[in-house]
Amino acid sequence: MNLIELRSVSKKYGNTEAVKNFDLTIKEREFIVLVGPSGCGKSTTLRIIAGLEELSEGTVLIGNQIVNDLAPKDRDIAMVFQNYALYPHMSVYNNMAFGLRMHKVSKDEIDLRVRECAEILELTDLLNRKPRQLSGGQKQRVALGRAIVRKTKFFLLDEPLSNLDAKLRVQMRAEIIKLHRKLKATMIYVTHDQIEAMTMGDRIVVMKEGEIQQLGTPDEIYNYPLNLFVAGFIGMPPMNFLDWDPGVILGVRPEHIRLSEKKGGAGLTDAARSSNKEYSISGNVEVIEYTGAEKQVFLQTSFGQLVVRTEPGQSIMEGHGYTLSFNAQNIHLFDQSSGMRLQHGFSKKISVINE
Ligand SMILES: Nc1ncnc2c1ncn2[C@@H]1O[C@H](COP(=O)(O)OP(=O)(O)OP(=O)(O)O)[C@@H](O)[C@H]1O
Ligand SMILES: [Mg+2]
Repeated sequence: MNLIELRSVSKKYGNTEAVKNFDLTIKEREFIVLVGPSGCGKSTTLRIIAGLEELSEGTVLIGNQIVNDLAPKDRDIAMVFQNYALYPHMSVYNNMAFGLRMHKVSKDEIDLRVRECAEILELTDLLNRKPRQLSGGQKQRVALGRAIVRKTKFFLLDEPLSNLDAKLRVQMRAEIIKLHRKLKATMIYVTHDQIEAMTMGDRIVVMKEGEIQQLGTPDEIYNYPLNLFVAGFIGMPPMNFLDWDPGVILGVRPEHIRLSEKKGGAGLTDAARSSNKEYSISGNVEVIEYTGAEKQVFLQTSFGQLVVRTEPGQSIMEGHGYTLSFNAQNIHLFDQSSGMRLQHGFSKKISVINE
């Protein structure tokens, strides 16, 4: 069943179009991630769904009912705000109980839910503390707890892990995924972190300047980016873009390029060669970054600097020449002027290779 639907929704602040002509349908129990750079309209979209922003245009439906004029408190939503603030004078327990008291939930039920959520979020030992006695990560978990105790049909989470250190972030990521399953709830999750988006979302909405660039599963977004923006935004290190043919940009991910010893010495860049679905380019290694699990090798080529991910065991030397090869199955072609994906290469060179 469709739970939330945004139809041609726009939001303007003066001359700023924070959200433009947004169409999005979210199914019951889905985990949807809105991802995009700072200022692209993620929080505004969430606030529109929550009823905290008035629309400039369009319709919002929840459970097939138009809710444009429905007050936030009547939408049965729990939200974790980007800049959450806990009540400083209240204990962790009371911070979590507060929303339930406002909704006139019975005392026994409140106690049950707060303790249950505290257990899930590992806050049981901290229930009597005040926010100033908590670390940043603990505070963030209390903010999550305040939303979870509500047991609503859906949750809106705006960068709920932004204040956590890297390790806790990864832990909490897994916790939220488990929570989503356990609560059988619908979650709309905002982040600017593409790894969070890829690992958490059933579907991902990639946004830029208030507009949806692509909506799809992590697999679709990674393997079939619809434009240069999505191709460059998802993936780390980002996809390499080569000016391949007049008007055509070829994209290839660092993990899809192999490096091999260059035959005939370490001369800089030959022209690209391509034969039978295999492409090869010459390059000289400028920098190697070792991350432990892999090496990221930056090479200078006649197409500019390209980055390649290799096994940490492969011996690569700075200053040496290598051949970069990749398969036609792993290339992405884009129209240079529109930035849009080309379904079929239209240049001779590429159509021959794709045969
Ligand atoms: N109350 C407001 N008044 C005027 N402009 C606003 C207001 N709120 C947001 N904007 C503008 O709308 C655009 C979208 O803002 P929004 O907060 O939705 O972005 P975001 O994607 O959540 O960014 P971030 O990742 O930095 O949180 C921005 O250009 C922002 O400056
Ligand atoms: Mg925001």
